[in-house]
Amino acid sequence: MDADPAAGAIAKKVAVMYATREGQTRRIAERLATQLRGRGLTVDVLDVGSRPAPPCDLARYSGALLAASVHIGKHEKSMIDFVKAHRAELERMPSAFVSVSLAKASADNAGSTPERREGAASHVAETITRFVRETGWSPKRVHAVAGALLYRQYGVLVRVMMRFIATRAGAATDTSRDHEYTDWQAVDRIGDEFAPLVRSIGT
Ligand SMILES: Cc1cc2nc3c(=O)[nH]c(=O)nc-3n(C[C@H](O)[C@H](O)[C@H](O)COP(=O)(O)O)c2cc1C
Repeated sequence: MDADPAAGAIAKKVAVMYATREGQTRRIAERLATQLRGRGLTVDVLDVGSRPAPPCDLARYSGALLAASVHIGKHEKSMIDFVKAHRAELERMPSAFVSVSLAKASADNAGSTPERREGAASHVAETITRFVRETGWSPKRVHAVAGALLYRQYGVLVRVMMRFIATRAGAATDTSRDHEYTDWQAVDRIGDEFAPLVRSIGT
């Protein structure tokens, strides 16, 4: 274990694992890591979708925060595979799942209609239910976080499709730039809530 110079004690170690397609979930994972480090924890940030897959011995960690984005109604396959392979270890330690989607942005959009917001909230809930069903893991803590529309990264077809989806969802349709919906304060609160769970283990 690593020393925590700030506390003069042994710092507990947390794995922040993420799966991303366009990069927003990586940014969210890094922000979570910064928040946890600020709370005196040692953190490894690992991309479960990188090839070759990073070696991961969860026994080295006192807690795990997992984050994955949603595409076409499903969370990243690399995260589903990772959770299936490590479910038993995840169930033995403080752990949480962070679901990153555009639907969460629509669900939170105060300027949208109640019907649209309810529809988006249902989509968020359905994708998480599907993840739980596919992995067999029922995380005790689940957080939905709004992602981003990164039009400048998309190819032509995906840009046209996402503009169509954004129109229906009440999201931004200006494809000349990217649009970030992530509520960074909400992300920080996830870290704030998680840190004490890890710190209290074995104390
Ligand atoms: C091709 C495509 C399909 C998507 N499908 C969904 C979807 O079914 N539901 C949703 O809420 N968001 C959907 N999104 C939005 C992503 O979840 C959002 O852009 C997120 O920030 C992506 O995170 P990442 O950059 O970490 O991959 C989709 C985005 C793309 C580009």
